[in-house]
Amino acid sequence: MADTLKIAVIGGDGTGPEVTREACKVLNAVAPLENFKYETTEFDYGGDRYLKTGEVITAKQIDEFRQFDVIYLGAVGHPEVPPGILEKGLLLEIRFQLDQYINLRPVKLYPGVDCPLKGKGPEDIRFEVVRENTEDLYCGAGGFLRKNTPQEVATQEMISTRFGVERCLRWAFELCRRRKDRNQLTLVHKTNVLTYAGDLWFRAFEEIGEADYPDIKRDYNHIDAACMWFIKNPEYYDTMVVSNMFGDIITDLGAMIQGGLGVAAGGNINPDPGGCSMFEPMGGSAPKYTGQEVINPIAAIAAMGMLLNLVGDQKKAPNVVAAAHRIEAAICKTTPKMKSMSAGRMGYTTSEVGDLVSEAL
Ligand code: IPM
Ligand code: MG
Repeated sequence: MADTLKIAVIGGDGTGPEVTREACKVLNAVAPLENFKYETTEFDYGGDRYLKTGEVITAKQIDEFRQFDVIYLGAVGHPEVPPGILEKGLLLEIRFQLDQYINLRPVKLYPGVDCPLKGKGPEDIRFEVVRENTEDLYCGAGGFLRKNTPQEVATQEMISTRFGVERCLRWAFELCRRRKDRNQLTLVHKTNVLTYAGDLWFRAFEEIGEADYPDIKRDYNHIDAACMWFIKNPEYYDTMVVSNMFGDIITDLGAMIQGGLGVAAGGNINPDPGGCSMFEPMGGSAPKYTGQEVINPIAAIAAMGMLLNLVGDQKKAPNVVAAAHRIEAAICKTTPKMKSMSAGRMGYTTSEVGDLVSEAL
């Protein structure tokens, strides 16, 4: 890759900046090894800025991200800001405005990580969840009637469009094919009750799969059953595709079976040409741990690896993809040295874990 990779960095709130610093440390260490150039530009969006200015982020400010190849986000959430303001105003706003319609969340048990499921190891927990990221209950459609009266009515609508569902399904089929695992894509919904939205998903899944992905085995789980199988037989899964709200829920369950939020990473991806994606550790800002150097940065470092993998692929830069693989391999060498994946019990400080991964590159 001849040009410089341009990364917008939002450290965010609480422990967000601490884990972001470790992810950037690893980026800084891997770039010379794979011979690529990058520059980071920091943005201070988040709770503190909101409390000072009364503004979260404007449409114009989000638009400015389009000049970057990709965004890296630490965490948002501030104890003095009422719930919803930063989550909807910053995180969801960026996802929606930049049309990051895929939320990719690998569920991978790293070596040496304690799994809460008895008898399961890294060979059993190694699947990927593709969560639709712009529709469903997250559209914000609905409202109140007779608010604050005993006759109050609230509606919140689950919206699925054929367009939105289809682009997500196609991306998931492609991922499943690229993984070359067991060529099995599991759709998760609730077609026995949600007979409109679920039906649209299921029909699109069958039609697209039959027409364009005959090599991929199509599998279907109801959401409640999927929660059960995650615990009982996680080895069953290869690639999963799921609507936004159900995806939000099962990926937290996924994070737990891979050792907790300290290791779970994800990407909000706009796969279209010129699309700007955003990568983040799945954990929140953990305000009570701020500044204590006890938070596990593995998730944040893994998110940086995912970022390089996607951008390297988009820019046809095999060295950047190789850097992503190096980070993944270095994480696998680091986790067995750590006592635990939980905050305060790692046996190392946040910054020491960043050093260990950097040295293992
Ligand atoms: C996540 C989070 C967000 C979501 C919240 C913070 C809006 O839970 O990334 O999974 O619901 O998508
Ligand atoms: Mg969530």
